Amino acid sequence: MPAYIVMGAQWGDEGKGKIIDVLAEKMDIVIRFQGGANAGHTVIHGKTRYVTHLIPSGVISGRSINIIGNGCVVNPATLLEEMEILRQQGVHISPDKFIISPSAHMVLPIHQYLDKVLNEKIGTTVRGIGPAYTDKVQRTGIRWERACDGSFEEACREHLDFVERVYAVVEKDVIKTLRDGIPDVTKAVEKLRPFVRDARPILAEAVKNNSNILYEGAQGTFLDVDHGTYPFVTSSNTSIGGAYTGSGIFLDFNKRIAIVKSYTTRVGEGPFPTELFDETGETLRRHGNEFGATTGRPRRCGWLDLALLKESCMINGFNYIVFSKVSCLSGIETLKVAVDYHSDGSPVYQELPGWEEDILGYTEYEALPANCRRYIEFTEDFLGVPVGMVSTGPDRDHVIERQPIFR
Ligand code: IMP
Repeated sequence: MPAYIVMGAQWGDEGKGKIIDVLAEKMDIVIRFQGGANAGHTVIHGKTRYVTHLIPSGVISGRSINIIGNGCVVNPATLLEEMEILRQQGVHISPDKFIISPSAHMVLPIHQYLDKVLNEKIGTTVRGIGPAYTDKVQRTGIRWERACDGSFEEACREHLDFVERVYAVVEKDVIKTLRDGIPDVTKAVEKLRPFVRDARPILAEAVKNNSNILYEGAQGTFLDVDHGTYPFVTSSNTSIGGAYTGSGIFLDFNKRIAIVKSYTTRVGEGPFPTELFDETGETLRRHGNEFGATTGRPRRCGWLDLALLKESCMINGFNYIVFSKVSCLSGIETLKVAVDYHSDGSPVYQELPGWEEDILGYTEYEALPANCRRYIEFTEDFLGVPVGMVSTGPDRDHVIERQPIFR
């Protein structure tokens, strides 16, 4: 069964968008199973740059059915905005090819407000993700099924009554503004109603028919609420377990694809053992244009952490690595990779020689400088997972395929 899952192996922003796009073109189904519009996948087709936040990347090629799974949280207003931008770029989005699970939860203005006032120390994207998942788990959330049964406005009012009782941090006039805003949110929800239907039978049928299915991960393994650097994490399961709970069916992924950035970045607060605060960190940020696709925040940059990636491989059972942004390392004389940690948590580094040559857009493995190949091969030997693909630039054809990604 040709089922693929693509996940970020680090703290997100590994460059998933590009490979997801290459895969999505051949897929019958593309599904997002966790997260919300906190993600930002950048896809470049020719001269056009598309940014998706929640809509599965399969919409861009237009071939596949695209599903927002039950594990996601969906803000009606921002989803409509995202759809509108894509439509203006010529992308066709219709209910026969785009589905929102009725069991997915809504992200409402109150969630964005609470995210802002409660979660500063985490450095969230302020998209309301954590508070929406909080409501889900404490069983006070509003699911998309309420868009279909005519009870959405009532659900919103009840929800704000609950918020008023429980959250002293929300001032009375804020509650009033939110109450007054219910008709606008309802209008947005109404527009999206045609897209809401149970996707599980479609997925199950696709599995039976041996169709090509792609699970599109968002964020990265160490932002997983269970396996990440808690509490500096997002509020969903970004690792492989989330694929099952977030879609509602079992399937045996034959390609579990790790997107590994050839150095490490992170946005927001939280531990980052190999972080660089010097000129090299600046160089990586500049070479890699490391600014968030969703928030524009500069990303923290550091050396490749192989000890951390080993754990990522254990959690997700990766069997294929896409090594991204290798071209951003050109010109750094000596590269360091963390292979273990000292008892105080600081990294044990192994040094590897760098390379001078600009390798942007290379497509042949043998054409890469010897030290670049050594860096790649050291990584795959250390992790025990093949680097099947090397990404050498932002364009779709800036790749070296060492092992076929399609069977
Ligand atoms: P939240 O997902 O907005 O609640 O943010 C929680 C943490 O996850 C923060 O450190 C964010 O910066 C981080 N985060 C959320 N989404 C992404 C992403 O797509 N890429 C990288 N970091 C993310």
